[in-house]
Amino acid sequence: MSFSHQNDQWYCEHVPLKAIAAEAGTPVYIYSRQMIRKRANAYLDQLTDPSDLICYATKANSSPAILQELSAMGLGADVTSGGELYLSLKAGYDPQKIIYSGVGKRDDEIAMALEAGIRALHIESTAELQAVETLAAKIPNGVSIGVRVNPNVAAETHPYISTGMHEHKFGVTIQEGWQLILAAARSPHLVPMGLAAHIGSQIEQVPPFGEAARLLTDMGTKLRAGRIMIDYIDVGGGLGINKRSWSDPNDVVHIQAWMDEVYPTVKEKSFRFTAEPGRSIVGPTGCLVTKVVFNKPRENKRFLIVDAGMNDLIRPTLYKAEHPIVSVMGARNLEIGEEGEIVDVVGPICESGDYLAKDRLLPPLERGDLLAVMNAGAYGFAMSSNYNGRLRAAEVMVDGDSWRVIRPRETYEDLWPSI
Ligand code: LLP
Repeated sequence: MSFSHQNDQWYCEHVPLKAIAAEAGTPVYIYSRQMIRKRANAYLDQLTDPSDLICYATKANSSPAILQELSAMGLGADVTSGGELYLSLKAGYDPQKIIYSGVGKRDDEIAMALEAGIRALHIESTAELQAVETLAAKIPNGVSIGVRVNPNVAAETHPYISTGMHEHKFGVTIQEGWQLILAAARSPHLVPMGLAAHIGSQIEQVPPFGEAARLLTDMGTKLRAGRIMIDYIDVGGGLGINKRSWSDPNDVVHIQAWMDEVYPTVKEKSFRFTAEPGRSIVGPTGCLVTKVVFNKPRENKRFLIVDAGMNDLIRPTLYKAEHPIVSVMGARNLEIGEEGEIVDVVGPICESGDYLAKDRLLPPLERGDLLAVMNAGAYGFAMSSNYNGRLRAAEVMVDGDSWRVIRPRETYEDLWPSI
């Protein structure tokens, strides 16, 4: 079950998008529970060892209902802030299944993680190791850490979301990684447990991930030979989705291919396996439904002005990301030559960069018609803001033929803090 076209309109599972928009209003993020489960299971089904862990990268979408769904399925969480840690604990993740990555952990965030007893903090600099060691002195039995190595593996993606090269701020070099692991092993307060990497996001080819997995596994094997008992290898997240992922029930083959590339490398050397996927679990499972406010022709151009803007979905303007868009009450496919209009789909924000799509062929649409922006389950709501005084959208979860609001639309009162 996914997004499908039936009876001349688009559905999420068995529920027409139009029915949800009519009741919940627009803009609204709509997620398919069955798709979320299917994609998470595509990872879980490949694990042959119960101590292996898929830590969902909560930054992709930290809506409480989604966090709860994935924690109930047995996934762990990859968090990157005190806020994400708070949400993950509240959503019921076993602290021993939570890892904390991020280049700029503050003392209060480190202390919070130590107090919660999470599985490991992933260290990204010498200064961070020192900060963690100081705070760890108060914790009996020592604190587990991993080191995030920046493997210098190039992978094709947008420069803003490529992370695995030495020019990026993330992780440490393999040599520095050795130093950090050795320093942790010498410390009475730290236990070096894991080696991690994350080479970037929205990477569609799998070989670079295999390369990173081999580098980490080799390093872990050498450390073990020196009696430093590295327990797990964390190959990170970053697997991309494609333009068809949202409507293709077989799209999980990419997840299987990715696991085939990285999992055996890690297991052959008897490490516990960990991964941190975000987008590949939730990306295709959500869409943003928005209403046409005006159809505005200009010289040589036609703008469809809709009620969702860059404050709701910043990816098109920030990364030139191309999200497929369908007319909720339109035909399944609109081929060139049929009646249609080439339009820029733009939002109401006072910025020329406020667009959701450029030069798209859509059927002629009028005020009140609905569009669905697909592949919007990851880094959609999570990156939304109140810019221009706009209220953040509602979120809805569909399950079979029923649906529920999992986050109410903000109200004007929410814009005014208690001061
Ligand atoms: N682990 C770490 C340490 C990360 O930094 C990230 C993403 C992930 C895991 C999950 O990566 P994923 O599987 O979702 O690709 N806002 C951008 C994406 C930024 C990703 C940042 N880190 C976008 O909208 O494309």
